[in-house]
Amino acid sequence: MTGALRVVARCQVADDVLAVTLADPHGDRLPPWTPGAHLDLLLPTGLVRQYSLCGDRWDGHHYRIAVLRVIDGRGGSAWIHDHLREGDVLPFGGPRNHFPMAPSTRYLFVAGGIGITPLLPMIDQAVRSERPWRLLYGGRRRTSMAFLDRLEALGGQVEVAAQDEVGVPDVAAWLGAPDPGATVYGCGPAGLLDATAAACAQWRPQALRTERFVAEVQDRAEDHPFTVVLRRSGTRLRIDPGTSVLDGLRDAGVAVLTSCRQGTCGTCEVAVLDGLPDHRDSVLDAVDREAGDSMMVCVSRARTDSLTLDL
Ligand code: FES
Repeated sequence: MTGALRVVARCQVADDVLAVTLADPHGDRLPPWTPGAHLDLLLPTGLVRQYSLCGDRWDGHHYRIAVLRVIDGRGGSAWIHDHLREGDVLPFGGPRNHFPMAPSTRYLFVAGGIGITPLLPMIDQAVRSERPWRLLYGGRRRTSMAFLDRLEALGGQVEVAAQDEVGVPDVAAWLGAPDPGATVYGCGPAGLLDATAAACAQWRPQALRTERFVAEVQDRAEDHPFTVVLRRSGTRLRIDPGTSVLDGLRDAGVAVLTSCRQGTCGTCEVAVLDGLPDHRDSVLDAVDREAGDSMMVCVSRARTDSLTLDL
């Protein structure tokens, strides 16, 4: 964990969405961050949860997050909604950014529900840098869609698609023909991101960058056993099909910070010193995967017989 943050404000910004403003307990400046970054918050229940930073990155004294109450989740969001109060202090890690904004001539943003949160600072950045941008923002109904007022004040570049008014948005039609000067950023439910990926199939490589809340379905039929070597201790672990690297590390008494355990949050990232990872996460982009120098040990496996980790 990086330090601690005090809750200085909380307010409802949509149905089941709570915005929380955090500051250093002593009023000091906070670590800087870039659009797409998130915080790890350690809740008193022992859960570590990730929340995208959605406030003003140039405000060095405050972080802002927005938390959707997840009805069938593991209790992190419900605890924040029901128990977190102004004045409370929480340990935090980060900010970390697995969803960075790359320079582009134009930006197209596709958000679904609470997926608007990492895109808000990106839109602010596009406005500041005077880059053309458009946003397609889908949600179940307008009252469930956070920050609509802030977005609609930006003008006609925002298309709001509330399902109870217009049905499921046609992402392909909204995106149009491949645009070699545009980069598409998507965050939201799997169905929306899958539709966005399909619509971008003919676009240039790396034109689409997404952040997922739910892991992509993995084919495990080809899983094979491999060995993990821990560089610092020299320990060797056999990882069988049906067992994760994380399981092996835990069985060997090696602690690794985790949260989602499904490859979507990036908390369990470990440096790879030798061998080729078989990336199964939804965090690393194609460039990171090609580099092969880190992996999410909760889901990723090995393409080689052995992997050496910096543990
Ligand atoms: S614990 Fe979230 S990616 Fe591994």
